[in-house]
Formats: sequence, structure tokens, C-alpha cells
Amino acid sequence: MKLEDDILRPARELYPMQVAFRRHIHQNPELAFEEYETTKYIKAQLRCHKIKLQPLDLKTGVVAVINPHFKRAIAIRSELDALPIAERTDLPFQSKRPGIMHACGHDLHMAVVLGTMILLNRLKKQLPCAVKCIFQPAEEKPPGGASKLIRAGVLRNPRVEMIFALHVDPNVATGRIGLRDEATMASVLDFNIVIHGKGGHAARPHAAVDGIAVAAEVIESLQKIVSREIDPLNPALITIGTIEGGTARNIIADQVVLSGTARTLSGANAKKIPQLLKRTLDGICRARGARYTFDILARYPVLVNHKSANKILRECYCELFGKNKVEKTPQTMGGEDFSYYIASIPGAMFRLGVRNTGIGADKSWHTPDFMVDEEAIFYGTSLLSLAVLKCGEKF
Ligand code: NI
Repeated sequence: MKLEDDILRPARELYPMQVAFRRHIHQNPELAFEEYETTKYIKAQLRCHKIKLQPLDLKTGVVAVINPHFKRAIAIRSELDALPIAERTDLPFQSKRPGIMHACGHDLHMAVVLGTMILLNRLKKQLPCAVKCIFQPAEEKPPGGASKLIRAGVLRNPRVEMIFALHVDPNVATGRIGLRDEATMASVLDFNIVIHGKGGHAARPHAAVDGIAVAAEVIESLQKIVSREIDPLNPALITIGTIEGGTARNIIADQVVLSGTARTLSGANAKKIPQLLKRTLDGICRARGARYTFDILARYPVLVNHKSANKILRECYCELFGKNKVEKTPQTMGGEDFSYYIASIPGAMFRLGVRNTGIGADKSWHTPDFMVDEEAIFYGTSLLSLAVLKCGEKF
């Protein structure tokens, strides 16, 4: 394998086409679990480059494979979904769908993964394994697409033994990447709580069970889980994001609905927190004579890259673009359902630098003026292609 002939030159040649992919996708964003047009578009591009699609029993999402006759596979994953945000950039290829925008860079991820598949398909004779691409619906909306895809069998046939993913990072300059060996992103537990009291006249509290008063105690006590029951050396948080209940000032509310999210960077805490939430809720509701329901909507594991996968990415990037281009990614309490894949098989997600202050590509994810530096497509494609080749050699 020759770096220049097999990876760098082809990646440069593919770049204009990948920019076109990315811009088309950026103009036509779709929300989580509704990525019908995006699914069609990705399939068409793969078909056009003679990459074999695999059947997938879901409404949206794409899986395709190079060298399907091999028993072992390396996978690369991209997300498909955009966000309910009205775009406020002045790009000529702005979103055509009002109120929907690719404001997390998933459009660029798709272009990179598509380009990588096209590049690797040309090298398929050199590859001692299968290569699978997974375009996953709904990364942004619980319960997320990853667990559904895994249940649908995307890690089998051929068996995936290593998986890579990328995420754009507006804090990292174009031409650089970020990696971290320890926990990078938090576990996510999204939940709904309904407190059932007993309605009544505001003047007769003794004859009612005040849902609002109980909810207030619950919210207050949930914060004590973090401050009093979790080791302060391991970060955790519980946020109640919405609260609904009550109809008038002189009526005691019979029902209050809370929605929230609990996050932590420790696997042990991730196990413990749902039990503590339930115990606290149960105790308070019992004490006040209320009933409750507690529903878990999503539960993502902590994102911890496998060291062996990080090592491959680090070495490949160094080989491609020289030393000192790999930064240490800081920890965040944000979540990412890529953690589902690497909970059962080795793999890693790297941060792809897309920061370029000169063109305004320095705004945070999920904002209406979020922008990426498209040059990053070349770096991401080169890295993923080389990582797959190197990893295959070790099989
Ligand atoms: Ni994202």
C-alpha cells in the first residue's frame, strides 16, 4: 500500500464529489427517524459506485458492504439526521426545509463515509476483509438509532470486529483531530416521571394529594442524589428539563409530569443512578400518599474509545499528516449513541477538526449559525481509509 497513490491522491480526487454530496445533503435535511430522502440519496450514490447494499428491515438507514465474501468486517458509521433548528447562515446551499438544519455536521460525516467507501472499493483486492458502512438514523433523538440497528443485525454477516466513527469538532482546527483514551462522553438516561396525586379545592388541602407540592419535593431530592450519593470525584448530573401540571390557582393539581436526563462519565454510576432515582421518587411519593410512574426513554452507555482502536487512528494520522496533529479531546457531559456499538466490539470515534475562524466555522454544534470547514472532508476520508486498511492487515 502506497500512501500517496492509494490514499492521498484518490482522496484529493474524490474531494469535489464529496463536497457536492455534502451540499446536497445540507440543503435537504431531515429529522430523526424521518430520513427517507437521505436514505434514498445515499443508496443511489453507493449503487452508482457498485457497492453492495445489504437488506435492512428499518424505514430509514443504509448498510452496504465491500468484499461481502469475507467472514470478518471493519465498519464505519455515520448518522443521517438533522435538527429542528432554523438555519441562519448565509451559505448559498442553505437548508431548503424551513426549521430543519444539519447543525451537528452529520452532512459532512455522510460525505466522508461515502467517499471512504468509494475509495476503499477501488482497493478491494488489497483488503483482506469486508468493509461495511452503517448510515444510522436518529442519533439526535432518544431512543436513538444505534440500538435499533444493532438489534437489526448490522454487526453480523459479515461479523464486525472493529468500528470507526467520526464527529466534527468546531473547537479543533481543520487538519487536526482529537482522541481520548478514557471516557469522553457521558452516559445518558432520559426519563419521564408522572406524579399522580388527588385533585381538590385549594382551600381543602387535607382532602387532596397535591401533585405540585410532591413534584417540588421530588425535584429537590433528586439533586441530592448527585450531591450526597455520588462520589464527587466522578461527575454526574440530573436535569429536570420540563414540568407540567395544574389548571388554576385555586385547584390542587392531581397530576404533574416531569421530563429529565441524568448523565455521568462513570459506568458504575450509570448503573446506580436509575436505582437511586427510583428509590427517591418512591420514598417521597409514599410519604405523601401519591402514586407515580417512571419511564426510561433512552439509555446510552458512557462513550469510551477502545485503546487499540485509538492507537490505530493516532498512528495512521501521524503517518498521513505528520506529528503533533492529534489533540486530546476534553470530556463532555453530552451523549452519543455510538457508545452502543463499542460497548460490545472494539472501536473508536475521533473528533475531526472543522474549525476555521476565517470562514465563520467556529460556532458551537446545534446553533443556527453552525458551520464546518469542508476541507476537513479530505482529512477525515484519508484517515478512515488508511485506518481500515491498516486494521485489515492485522486481521
Ligand atoms: Ni452529532
